[in-house]
Amino acid sequence: MTARVLNGNTLAKKLREELQAEVANLTATTGVKPCLAAILVGSNPASEVYVRNKRSDCEKVGMTSQLHVLDETITQDDLLQLIDRLNSDPLVHGILCQLPLPKHIEEQTILDAITPLKDVDAFHPENVGLLVQGRPRFLPCTPAGCHIILKDAGIETAGKHVVVLGRSEIVGKPMANIMLQKAPAGGDATVTICHSRTKNLSEIIKQADILIAAIGKPKFVTADMVKEGVVVIDVGINRIETGLVGDVDYESVAPKSTAITPVPGGVGPMTRAVLLKNTLKAAQIAAKK
Ligand code: GUN
Repeated sequence: MTARVLNGNTLAKKLREELQAEVANLTATTGVKPCLAAILVGSNPASEVYVRNKRSDCEKVGMTSQLHVLDETITQDDLLQLIDRLNSDPLVHGILCQLPLPKHIEEQTILDAITPLKDVDAFHPENVGLLVQGRPRFLPCTPAGCHIILKDAGIETAGKHVVVLGRSEIVGKPMANIMLQKAPAGGDATVTICHSRTKNLSEIIKQADILIAAIGKPKFVTADMVKEGVVVIDVGINRIETGLVGDVDYESVAPKSTAITPVPGGVGPMTRAVLLKNTLKAAQIAAKK
């Protein structure tokens, strides 16, 4: 079987073009130019690259962005103060605090402090709650990116068994939620979430019509674990000696798949495209006030 390669770069570019037109329209009709404020604490090389790419995307679609770089040793109170300032700045529409944060800062306290109307990561409990209830305000970036890839490829999810590997707040849990929700916002799927304590992991993975891997273990999923004809969405971004690899052993799994996302160039660009979508939505909300 030759797997269809689901190219996230091409799809993200198409989405950016659509967004660019919407941004231009918003700015022309209301004078509001969407602005994303990114907060980067410390000097994690991967985080620096992610934030740089997110800002470059903003520029591509006619949005502005701010970068707030803070020293690794910043106190939690000082970080909260910056968030307060950005919360009440009418020129800022989206606020993104790049994770992970240094250990002395409580991540949840910081994420809770970002006003839900500017929470373009959709990490705030209010936005998580709205998603769980099937009436999302902002879409969680990576999970929504995966869903868009499946929809764009015309891959049916209704009634399919979607197995999500990983239960993180950023990917696993919201991913399962989106696939569970009714169409068109959701996937109408039957969903199983697997994690480090799951028994008979291989047996469950083998039942997947669609496998979404987000566990952060390089090449964890191998050919013997999946069924013939599976659709594979690989969320993993792992740096090993030979470069970037996903959570799926692409070389061995692709021949058994009908469709598969590559790493890099699969889910990653789509995460950023959804971030732009959310920032536009935040600006539209602000423009209506
Ligand atoms: N770190 C890894 N992924 C993400 C993300 O989607 N948003 C933020 N803010 N930090 C991250």
